[in-house]
Amino acid sequence: MLNVQTSEIENRAVKLGTTDGTKVHAKDVNVYYGDKRALFDVTVNIPDRSVTAFIGPSGCGKSTFLRCINRMNDTIPICRVTGKITIDNEDIYDPSLDVVQLRARVGMVFQKPNPFPKSIYENVAYGPRIHGLAGTKAELDHIVQTSLEKAALWKEVKDRLNDPGTGLSGGQQQRLCIARAVAVGPEVILMDEPCSALDPIATAKVEELIDELKQNFCIIIVTHSMQQAARVSQRTAFFHLGILVEEGATNDIFTNPTDKRTQDYITGRFG
Ligand SMILES: Nc1ncnc2c1ncn2[C@@H]1O[C@H](COP(=O)(O)OP(=O)(O)O)[C@@H](O)[C@H]1O
Ligand SMILES: [Mg+2]
Repeated sequence: MLNVQTSEIENRAVKLGTTDGTKVHAKDVNVYYGDKRALFDVTVNIPDRSVTAFIGPSGCGKSTFLRCINRMNDTIPICRVTGKITIDNEDIYDPSLDVVQLRARVGMVFQKPNPFPKSIYENVAYGPRIHGLAGTKAELDHIVQTSLEKAALWKEVKDRLNDPGTGLSGGQQQRLCIARAVAVGPEVILMDEPCSALDPIATAKVEELIDELKQNFCIIIVTHSMQQAARVSQRTAFFHLGILVEEGATNDIFTNPTDKRTQDYITGRFG
């Protein structure tokens, strides 16, 4: 009896990651593109089960930092990353770490919806299939359905799963991309300006979805819209010229920033 309880507690501790609720921890992260330095000693703790927004003027390094968190910068030959990033205290730049596994744990949604030129079903089934997550067709069907449900898209597509994903509206395509990310069971979801190609109604739907998803995932969203950051995030980090100037509770950042640069940005003086 005691053993069962102990292992339950251990499992729970593992699930919770670190004891202070931090999911992603970055320490002194620097990024260089060739000789050009794009990020300067970025240090931040990003909590689990909440939405963190990265804001700041264009070119300040938001996407660059986001791409550090699933090692997407590895795919840019001139790009070099130094410093440390951990997820649940595990160093994601450890040479023994499997990057394919990492990218399943840390999903990504891009600015422009980019469904594969395949059916709605196949867009979602692809990841689980290559990661061997389903033993049978019924299991795969179940993953596809629950992922589409989690992405608030199931009701709209359940009768046309074999239609091409690219035939959906922009907003539906973006939710399909979110379903595709969710299907492999990620812990962290990175979103790089996920609504910038969407109309206001589709944007509202995706924002509502982000609000739902935060119950189960650590979500990090880059947005050029301060209104969006204020609507969807619990914490906000302000970047300027490659420096993480200030990070804190979203409400504090927008109503009571401590740094002049943050103040100037949120009052529209630049950016
Ligand atoms: N692939 C790349 N090669 C060279 N420089 C890049 C590349 N990606 C981004 N940069 C540079 O890094 C800086 C930060 O860019 P980025 O992270 O895209 O900013 P943001 O997402 O905040 O607009 C910019 O000066 C940009 O020109
Ligand atoms: Mg960007």
